[in-house]
Amino acid sequence: MKIRPEIAADVAQIYEVNRLAFGREDEARLVDALRERGVVICSLVADLDGLIVGHVLFSPATLDDDGRHTTLAALGPVAVLPARQRQGVGDALIRAGLEICRDEGYTVAVVLGHSTYYPRFGFRPSRPLGIRWEHDAPEEAFMVMELVPGALSGYRGIIRYQPEFDGV
Ligand SMILES: CC(C)(COP(=O)(O)OP(=O)(O)OC[C@H]1O[C@@H](n2cnc3c(N)ncnc32)[C@H](O)[C@@H]1OP(=O)(O)O)[C@@H](O)C(=O)NCCC(=O)NCCS
Repeated sequence: MKIRPEIAADVAQIYEVNRLAFGREDEARLVDALRERGVVICSLVADLDGLIVGHVLFSPATLDDDGRHTTLAALGPVAVLPARQRQGVGDALIRAGLEICRDEGYTVAVVLGHSTYYPRFGFRPSRPLGIRWEHDAPEEAFMVMELVPGALSGYRGIIRYQPEFDGV
């Protein structure tokens, strides 16, 4: 299995992977919308002999600390074909994506998701740090991670995602 950046020929398969993994079209449409507006840090696929079995996208988000704005990397959606889940595909995609974000100069990543899954990558709940998501979410589900040690020290505030995420 190869983890690589998406190419134009992957677009339909990426849509299907997201649709099947989430059991609805919202995340698949979200990926298309973010791509169309060019608000993507990286979009990676897990390619198994030409079959795309997983996909992850990172987009820029903003931490608003009383008017001081910092750009962060937001992880998601991440999706693995149901038949290929729990085989390390999501893990490989997320680790590769976090590495690219770090290389691109991002110092902090955020994610909204399963509180049992993301801590293995270094994510931890944001609330105790005084950082919260712009929308309501279960407290443990919104998480942050330093891509560069110390990057979060002194930061508080509200995280805003790209508007395409509204309503998903
Ligand atoms: C979440 C997802 C991307 C993980 O990818 P994956 O390739 O299955 O995960 P990995 O093989 O890297 O890691 C497996 C671990 O993920 C965790 N995991 C997988 N699916 C999970 C779920 N629905 N709820 C909680 N934990 C889950 C488990 O801890 C599992 O470990 P285990 O097999 O020892 O129990 C994938 O399951 C998926 O596409 N799910 C549907 C879409 C989704 O929920 N996306 C994330 C939105 S935040």
